[in-house]
Amino acid sequence: MAVMEIVEHPAQVLKEVGASVEKFDADLEKLVADMFETMYAAEGVGLAAPQVGLSLRLFVMDCVGLKLVAANPEILSAEGEQEGEEACLSVGKIHSPLTRAARVRLRAQDVRGEIYEQEAEGLAARCFLHETDHCDGLLFIDRLSPLRRDMVKRRFQKMKKWRQG
Ligand code: NI
Repeated sequence: MAVMEIVEHPAQVLKEVGASVEKFDADLEKLVADMFETMYAAEGVGLAAPQVGLSLRLFVMDCVGLKLVAANPEILSAEGEQEGEEACLSVGKIHSPLTRAARVRLRAQDVRGEIYEQEAEGLAARCFLHETDHCDGLLFIDRLSPLRRDMVKRRFQKMKKWRQG
């Protein structure tokens, strides 16, 4: 297994709609293992393939006890509302409040290609929506008001400058 480099905003791959996962083979198993390792190393709760530079509809998550692989994810239903903070490994983990649906039903395929459905609430529901958005070329900042989006972008720019020394 290997930790991969996490691609950051404004990389083009983060804006592209991912291709469907078609092959459920040993290469996919290795990619999924590497994505989990990368996510844990970065102390994230979810990671999508575009974030490691691959324009694919695939994510991994391990969030409030719900650990899964989702290939070709689809949001079947999203109900209610929850308030909360959201952040992304590709945007320097800078938080902003974002209203999301409270209860979400996801359909996806596991690493062997088996179709499953999974329901989640709270943070795990937020994670389903955030990671499925990545597969569709959307970042959480795209869902913020212009004011909040600019605030996150400015803080991220500052962080990048600081990191470069
Ligand atoms: Ni993200």
